[in-house]
Amino acid sequence: MSDMITIDAPPNDLEAYWMPMTPNRRFKKAPMFFSSAQGMHYAMPDGQRLLDAIAGLWCVNAGHCHPKVVEAIRAQAGKLDYASSFGVGHPQAFHYTNRLMEIAPAGFNHVFLAGSGSEAVDTALKIALAYQRARGEGHRQGLIGRQRSYHGMGFGGLSVSGIGWHRAQFGTLLPGVSHLPHTHDLARNAFSRGEPAHGVDFADALDALLAACDPSTVAAVIVEPVAGAGGVLPPPKGYLQRLRDICDRHGILLIFDEVVTGFGRLGAPFAAQALGVSPDLITCAKGMTNGAVPMGGVLVRDLVFDAMAQGPEAGVELAHGYTYSGHPLACAAALATLSVYAEEGLFARAASLAPIWEDALHSLRGAPHVRDIRNLGLLGAVEIESTADAPGARARKCADVCFDHGVFVRALGDTLVLSPPLIVEESQIGQIRDAIAAGLKEVARLGL
Ligand SMILES: Cc1ncc(COP(=O)(O)O)c(C=O)c1O
Repeated sequence: MSDMITIDAPPNDLEAYWMPMTPNRRFKKAPMFFSSAQGMHYAMPDGQRLLDAIAGLWCVNAGHCHPKVVEAIRAQAGKLDYASSFGVGHPQAFHYTNRLMEIAPAGFNHVFLAGSGSEAVDTALKIALAYQRARGEGHRQGLIGRQRSYHGMGFGGLSVSGIGWHRAQFGTLLPGVSHLPHTHDLARNAFSRGEPAHGVDFADALDALLAACDPSTVAAVIVEPVAGAGGVLPPPKGYLQRLRDICDRHGILLIFDEVVTGFGRLGAPFAAQALGVSPDLITCAKGMTNGAVPMGGVLVRDLVFDAMAQGPEAGVELAHGYTYSGHPLACAAALATLSVYAEEGLFARAASLAPIWEDALHSLRGAPHVRDIRNLGLLGAVEIESTADAPGARARKCADVCFDHGVFVRALGDTLVLSPPLIVEESQIGQIRDAIAAGLKEVARLGL
């Protein structure tokens, strides 16, 4: 495999690029580059290889630079580089969406395409508002998100997100947004394997919120089935179904943000299927194209689409769309990605690896400073006790040690979050586990 990895020289001047979600000044003092990737590995300019335990950024589910995806993009780029989807079409977008609907949950037969997860979320929120208006409920303009949720960086998505420091710089955001409490409950659920046993009652907070704000003013509730960037928080057993029931009782749409959980992460195409709860809208991105070309989408339940398709035939059903909606390169990559998932049986592979993954992660229980371990499908998190004077420092150090051991993990606050490509081998799961164990040991040895 190593001969397939090429080595690039790092740039001399790092000033111009304002990097996203990065302490730019710190990075530029000690920069770190990936120059190429293949399968489970990244390569750095000095040739060092790193096992990717986070699938890029929760997206490269079929492994890096999959030859079928690479070839599909190459071929498409030389054939039709760009075509607008505003009032004209190109075949790939239709082929892709037809194929996507074959793996969608029952009752979902339409998909709106966007260019990222953030665009997908904003699109879903707009569809929810427009749907309520189309059925004569235009007074329903409220949106409900959840603490510790992440729904991207658009004004809509950020408004329903629940990670305070992401929002702090940007003022009031959208009006009419409320948040449910998060479901992280260490007192009852620490070290749960899979869905925690306790916490269905967190869903009752939706009833309480609706009682306080008048349910007839609420258009939609949006949740990640498993909160990802909030620290990998699997839903308590029965929680999502209870949200569904409450939404149904009040005519409120339920949106699952499946940007992380879509495309096999939980062992089924979508979390909705893996967890047996059907929302009204599903957002997706990331694993859609195996991360190779930016793309997002909103899967739409028939009841929503049908309500929106009632006006005059010449009328635009939804005054919404992006230059890159249905981009030919993204559609080609997405079609090839779906084929790879099917041919390699990657969703079933994720399901069969999940117990091994669970055992490996939970074997870290009792290691220094470990406060909680969480897992579902091929998602995982190791939460480390924070120190009062330097929150996040232990996890960062631990991630650095993993790096020295050739494993790339991500520290979010004091939690290490993990989501390896679905092609991960059992031995590589062991390598990820051992690297984290070494990191935790080193943190303890240094007295951090
Ligand atoms: C659940 C969820 N929603 C939305 C997004 C935003 O996606 P993007 O970064 O492609 O805009 C993310 C990104 O990590 C995510 O995890």
